[in-house]
Amino acid sequence: MCGIVAYLGQKTAQPILIEGLKRLEYRGYDSAGVALLSNGVIKIKKTSGRIAALEAILDKPQANETLGLGHTRWATHGVPNQINAHPHADYTGKIAVVHNGIIENYSTLKTWLQNEGVTFVSDTDTEVIANLIGYFYEKCDAGERTRKPQGQNRFEWAVQRALQEVHGTYGLGILCADCPDMFIGAKKGSPLILGVSEGEYILASDAAAIIEHTAKALYLSDNEMVIVTADGFHTKTIDNIAVTKSLENIEFSLEQIELGSFKHHMLKEIFEQPKALTTCMGGRIDPQNDRIHLGGVNDYLRAMTHIKRLIITACGTAFHAGLVGEFLFEQMARIITETEYASEFRYRNPIIEDGTTVIAISQSGETADTLAAVEQAKERGATVLGIVNVVGSSIARATDAGVYLHAGPEIGVASTKAFTAQVAVLTMLAIELSRRRLVSSDEATRYIKELAKIPDKISQILKQSEHIRTIAQANINQNNWLFLGRGINYPVALEGALKLKEISYIHAEGLPAAEMKHGPIALIVDGMPAVFIATNGPQYDKIIGNICEVRARKGKTIIVATEGNDHIKPYADYLITVPDAPELLQPMLTVIPLQLMAYHAAVLRGHDVDKPRNLAKSVTVE
Ligand code: G6P
Repeated sequence: MCGIVAYLGQKTAQPILIEGLKRLEYRGYDSAGVALLSNGVIKIKKTSGRIAALEAILDKPQANETLGLGHTRWATHGVPNQINAHPHADYTGKIAVVHNGIIENYSTLKTWLQNEGVTFVSDTDTEVIANLIGYFYEKCDAGERTRKPQGQNRFEWAVQRALQEVHGTYGLGILCADCPDMFIGAKKGSPLILGVSEGEYILASDAAAIIEHTAKALYLSDNEMVIVTADGFHTKTIDNIAVTKSLENIEFSLEQIELGSFKHHMLKEIFEQPKALTTCMGGRIDPQNDRIHLGGVNDYLRAMTHIKRLIITACGTAFHAGLVGEFLFEQMARIITETEYASEFRYRNPIIEDGTTVIAISQSGETADTLAAVEQAKERGATVLGIVNVVGSSIARATDAGVYLHAGPEIGVASTKAFTAQVAVLTMLAIELSRRRLVSSDEATRYIKELAKIPDKISQILKQSEHIRTIAQANINQNNWLFLGRGINYPVALEGALKLKEISYIHAEGLPAAEMKHGPIALIVDGMPAVFIATNGPQYDKIIGNICEVRARKGKTIIVATEGNDHIKPYADYLITVPDAPELLQPMLTVIPLQLMAYHAAVLRGHDVDKPRNLAKSVTVE
């Protein structure tokens, strides 16, 4: 949700900024811009559209322009046009700002500045920050209210004063025309990382824009700022208290975020799932000794053995993984579990009694609603665990303990490998809790052995990609689809429908198969695709009944069934098979054909799969 980048070094800044923006483009792609400091003047170029549109209007890079900012936007305040695109300059032209986040009191601040004679040109909240900094910079030492501590840099002071007035969230990169060798970064609620290499600094919303330059990075915390100059950098709070921070290693490599031979990141990530799950479970499942080792939460497992209730909170695809988790914790470990949308949980005055543990699930670790739900749960005294992919992200830091997915970076906006890894972690946790709660140790042993086989079984399913493409092709003109499953495969139906909606823009509904007859069955017309998950399990016969109801109304049945099941063939217009697995482990298999179906449908419809309209990878606003 908006990507920001800033560069200071000896190299020509413009190509580095553009390369960084391309790496961050999955965060937002409705407008883009750069600001360069050129002989004491800030030059801004910006446009609506993608980075490619920005490149088309840029001047030739100049070797003396070694300091600059870049931004790729996902609009919140103000339509995505050239004026609202970032960077934003202040009214004096001395300050330029790129911003990721939302300034909640922008309208009050705007009115106040306007009363002070400041003019605005855009509809954005960000321009308020630029003008506030510009205002304090201009008025510095002009009166008692704007007195700067002796010896402090005027630009640095103006940024601090402005941020002290601001309520909301920000990741900021800021330039000042009078400071040719300096930029400032500041963070509250939105991610911000400074990459540090020999005489060169690159600030970015995430490590993808940094890794090409260096693996050494400084992760800023909330209410901190970093002041970067040609001589080095220092960190402070926005209240001017020095903070000592150490450099950390960025954990992934450039190769992991490049497409390689794949056409899209989404397809690459779908195909990476066997490897991602192997890494996720590596060293954690121990089939020889029937044990699961989850180092990150080890200290909490003993207490969790006696908990009364689990609440899982998440958004989007992570929420669907949470729904699978609800089945796992209830069925395997007999713990009462509820899964709640983080955006609802945070505002519903949740009841957190003694003995409640909250689990937050998030690929990015930055989703604003999930982060707020974590804070809410902590305030009410719950132990909060995180299941997060991005190491060092805000949710990973805010939770008491957690388990990283280790699924590798996920770039495609539609989440795929994070989902299966989230379910794998939830499964490992549920198995370990079932063993410790003495629900059934034989079952735990069986599940551990079966879990170890899941990556190979996913590889088998991936071989059907071309077959699934032909099914998508045959139904590509249908504008309404149903996804139906029962039991633990019901959340998979929800996820299948979400995938199709997000990237193909086809209307789809996910439902528990038996609920269809209470309303949605009215939608079924001749040729309408209904995707059923009808794998082997206790509800198999029931779902056959639901399939018949669709066929009787001339719907087209696309059935995901267990390999070797010949009985189902007469019920299927199209059949996709998955290897057999215990029912509770099936979601990691049954979701794969649905991911591929959505992918192929989107490509066949000519959509930009990795950058679907109106969506962003990480939603750092409410
Ligand atoms: C966005 C993404 C989804 C993702 C959701 C939650 O909407 O487009 O793919 O599932 O956010 O993200 P998180 O990073 O918290 O898992």
